[in-house]
Amino acid sequence: MSDSKVKLTVDGKELEYATIAGSVGPKVVDIRKLYAQTGMVTYDPGFTSTASCDSALTYIDGDQGVLLHRGYSIEELSEQSSFMEVAYLLLRGNLPNKGELDSFVHTITRHTMVHEQLSTFFRGFRRDAHPMAIMCGVVGALSAFYHDSTDITDPVQRMIASHRLIAKMPTLAAMAYKYSVGQPFVYPQNDLSYTGNFLRMTFSVPAEEYEVNPVIEKALDRIFILHADHEQNASTSTVRLAGSSGANPFACIAAGIACLWGPAHGGANEAALNMLREIGTPERIPAYIARAKNKDDPFRLMGFGHRVYKNYDPRATVMQKTVREVLTALNVSDPIFDVALQLEDMALHDDYFIEKKLFPNVDFYSGIILSAIGFPTDMFTVLFALARTVGWVAHWNEMISDPEQKIGRPRQLYTGPAPRAYLPVEKR
Ligand code: SDX
Repeated sequence: MSDSKVKLTVDGKELEYATIAGSVGPKVVDIRKLYAQTGMVTYDPGFTSTASCDSALTYIDGDQGVLLHRGYSIEELSEQSSFMEVAYLLLRGNLPNKGELDSFVHTITRHTMVHEQLSTFFRGFRRDAHPMAIMCGVVGALSAFYHDSTDITDPVQRMIASHRLIAKMPTLAAMAYKYSVGQPFVYPQNDLSYTGNFLRMTFSVPAEEYEVNPVIEKALDRIFILHADHEQNASTSTVRLAGSSGANPFACIAAGIACLWGPAHGGANEAALNMLREIGTPERIPAYIARAKNKDDPFRLMGFGHRVYKNYDPRATVMQKTVREVLTALNVSDPIFDVALQLEDMALHDDYFIEKKLFPNVDFYSGIILSAIGFPTDMFTVLFALARTVGWVAHWNEMISDPEQKIGRPRQLYTGPAPRAYLPVEKR
């Protein structure tokens, strides 16, 4: 939907570019003709002011701390919906009725098993391999097993691959955990919920019955909702860029997993809990805040700050509330939660964090809950990848089904040597 225009004067010549307004949020300046008209390209490392695409999935207002999925607020979805329902919403565009939801859950449930030969993949890894290293490998390997759903031009195959990815991530994540602790893999059980199935595959052992704790199941399902999608974050942009070349969906999601692993992105939940444990007691907080403010010290408060949110990340608000629920339900207290609360309070009253608009993000509290449930810290980003697969798959489908879609190929500002003649080695 074209709107007003902006003017640019280049070498005395006035050029006009249309602006396009979305349904909400900042307008965009359509500069697709800029290079052809001026021989210049825009320069925006990190894409701080650049829209790479249009999307109808998720909207973030960073100043107001708003997060919407297909128009529904994260507060309402995390309180009233389920991860499977949010997956349907992101994939299909609207909330399902009961029949649609039941049919979707039935389909996902019956894709949760993985090819039996995939289990031999795990045996090639050291037992102490980081589970994210394993996930990068085995998710990419899915394309070696499911050739019948890699023709991306076929919408039916695209949806089968999407269902397979959403369904198999919990199974592979649980297998990565079981492998790391030397316990046997546990097969999915179809009469359990998506999240209950994952808990059972992760924590049950053949030697005894396993009962899914409904409070933990609900809390983890809510955590999955909070991580489901977040517009054009680094890993989603990675999935879109990989998919723009026509790569198969399994390879694209493996690329997203690799990008998410970084501590500046999805790896921050593991890093944040490790940081809180290193701080250990409230008395040590001021020293760490001082380090975070010191330009000469690379240390940053993990779980703090965000490229888009310059207000409280609404997911962190829900996450903090969930910490209280889980600790109460498990009848445990975690001194690290007190450290986190006091660290947040001190940072939010410190001029450095106030001026730079640094607030807790989704990763600040999640580790406390996951640790209380029983996950080791190196599984935290795996759980982030499990949940974000829904968003990645929804974005991949949105991009591939866009008739205007083309391969992503950014330009650059070249700062290397000017053209020069080759000299034989004896003359150098
Ligand atoms: C996720 O994009 C998404 O949507 C991501 C995500 C999703 O759902 O997909 O929301 C998930 O990745 C959340 C973010 C998890 N990462 C962390 O918690 C790591 C710690 N945070 C930072 O590394 C940082 O805040 C980023 C990477 C999240 C954002 O960095 P930006 O937008 O590039 O901002 P910046 O690094 O330029 O920081 C601006 C200023 C800098 O100071 P100046 O150079 O202006 O003097 O704020 C400072 C930074 O030094 N700063 C911090 C800080 N974060 C930024 N100082 C101390 N501690 C921090 N955490």
